[in-house]
Amino acid sequence: MSRIAIIGAGPSGLAMLRAFEAAREAGAEVPELVCYEKQTDWGGQWNYSWRTGLDEYGEPVPSSMYRNLWSNGPKEGLEFADYSFDQHFGRPVSSYPPREVLWDYIAGRVEASDVRKYIRFETAVRWVSYDETTEQFTVSSQTLPTGADSVETFDHVVVASGHFTYPNFPSFPGIETFPGMLTHAHDFRGAEGLKDQDVLVIGASYSAEDIGSQAYKMGAKSVTASYRTKPMGYDWPDGFSERPGIERFDGYTVHFIDGTSKDVDAVIVCTGYLHKYPYLPESLGLRSPNNVYPDGLYQGVVWNANPKLFYVGAQDQWFTFNMFDAQAWFVRDLILGRIPMPTQSERDASIADWRARFETIADASDEIRFQGDYVRDLIDQTDYPSFDVDGVVEIFLSWKEDKAADIMGYRDYTYKSVMTGTRSVRHHTRWMDELDDSMERYLQTAK
Ligand SMILES: Cc1cc2nc3c(=O)[nH]c(=O)nc-3n(C[C@H](O)[C@H](O)[C@H](O)COP(=O)(O)OP(=O)(O)OC[C@H]3O[C@@H](n4cnc5c(N)ncnc54)[C@H](O)[C@@H]3O)c2cc1C
Ligand SMILES: NC(=O)c1ccc[n+]([C@@H]2O[C@H](COP(=O)([O-])OP(=O)(O)OC[C@H]3O[C@@H](n4cnc5c(N)ncnc54)[C@H](OP(=O)(O)O)[C@@H]3O)[C@@H](O)[C@H]2O)c1
Repeated sequence: MSRIAIIGAGPSGLAMLRAFEAAREAGAEVPELVCYEKQTDWGGQWNYSWRTGLDEYGEPVPSSMYRNLWSNGPKEGLEFADYSFDQHFGRPVSSYPPREVLWDYIAGRVEASDVRKYIRFETAVRWVSYDETTEQFTVSSQTLPTGADSVETFDHVVVASGHFTYPNFPSFPGIETFPGMLTHAHDFRGAEGLKDQDVLVIGASYSAEDIGSQAYKMGAKSVTASYRTKPMGYDWPDGFSERPGIERFDGYTVHFIDGTSKDVDAVIVCTGYLHKYPYLPESLGLRSPNNVYPDGLYQGVVWNANPKLFYVGAQDQWFTFNMFDAQAWFVRDLILGRIPMPTQSERDASIADWRARFETIADASDEIRFQGDYVRDLIDQTDYPSFDVDGVVEIFLSWKEDKAADIMGYRDYTYKSVMTGTRSVRHHTRWMDELDDSMERYLQTAK
């Protein structure tokens, strides 16, 4: 029987385990699975840690989430096709759950399918190598509490270790003497301390948008967002503004390239993350900017240079959980031989086709449609429960409009599930007024 190593038990690694389990439940013989997870529990980014920098074992803390994080897209966009929100909560809930609620949903599906037994928790993969002669991978890992190490061989490796852990942290002239609070979004854990402060967020994507909004919600005196390429362009409330790139810091004063300046108390650098796989040699490691079709991956998952290695969740993400499922089911079927692995030249041609379309993407709406077509293409090739992918694309497009109309209130909007037809309920408290992000509070039915 072949052996498969899965690196990471976040949503992508769990999707992989769930895919094999679904095949096993349907009577298939499945390979031996070993999933390595360096944290004490599953859920990846959704497994919040108060720690920053290094954890109790001196390992980089994987999660970049913060206490007050709520979903930034409607849950109807990420719903699993084989495990609905209705099934998990037994009643309709709102469209933008806080982190703990989504963690519970992710965990609920895998609890129900008994895959925990495949996971080696608190075990970090240190190195992976491939032997051309035996055509096998060697995976070296270490159990963190004991330091015990292990070397095992596998026929396939699935990389599911995420790509929002290692900060892209640029330097700016004068930043080294900025006297106030300075941190990257990766280490940001909550905005309560930003009350009455003048806050600068650097970046113009989701971290800048949401951390800036969290600061505003918690009573920051002002929020300034600095963009490199183009502003986010929302109809921000009073006290929230956008400025172009930074020319230099001078004490507490930030000088922007348009000649304006602003005194700030705190700077949160929201400049994204690096694709980094420190346990992979150059020949196996993906190097890519954060985009929806990284080069070198056939069907977005097969490492073209060695098709025994797979990546799940390596793309930038509009679709998330159900895209990881679509990828995992496809990878499973390649491994099980249900889908033949195309030749190198066929894979090259497919990558070239997708990359050519990728190059024509003009805006976020194009990107959403692109990712929708990608997800549909994968689902059509496996027995993952089919769902209305175009309906999900429409949800994302409406979400964008709703944000444009009401950036501080969009999380109060409701959407209809394409999986169950259920329309979500309005949350009992407006996002702007809700200061308790716990699941207990979320599930209360009255104010
Ligand atoms: C701040 C932030 C907010 C987000 N908010 C949303 C949102 O609202 N909605 C949404 O749909 N998506 C959101 N995302 C996207 C998020 O990336 C996905 O939802 C999802 O968590 C990706 O799953 P993953 O399994 O690919 O990676 P991750 O969730 O990063 O999980 C990777 C796992 O691999 C483990 N690992 C890493 N290296 C090793 C190693 N060497 N050995 C063993 N284990 C290892 C880690 O411990 C981790 O558990 C957010 C991301 C960030 C950073
Ligand atoms: N649930 C939530 O509320 C929530 C909150 C935060 C993050 N997230 C998720 O986290 C993931 C990562 O988002 P992200 O915003 O951290 O990363 P990102 O989407 O990759 O965006 C990175 C941003 O940094 C800017 N940037 C990069 N280098 C820069 C430099 N040298 N100077 C100035 N700006 C620079 C980029 O600007 P250019 O446009 O110029 O390239 C871009 O705006 C996404 O999946 C997102 O959905 C979710």
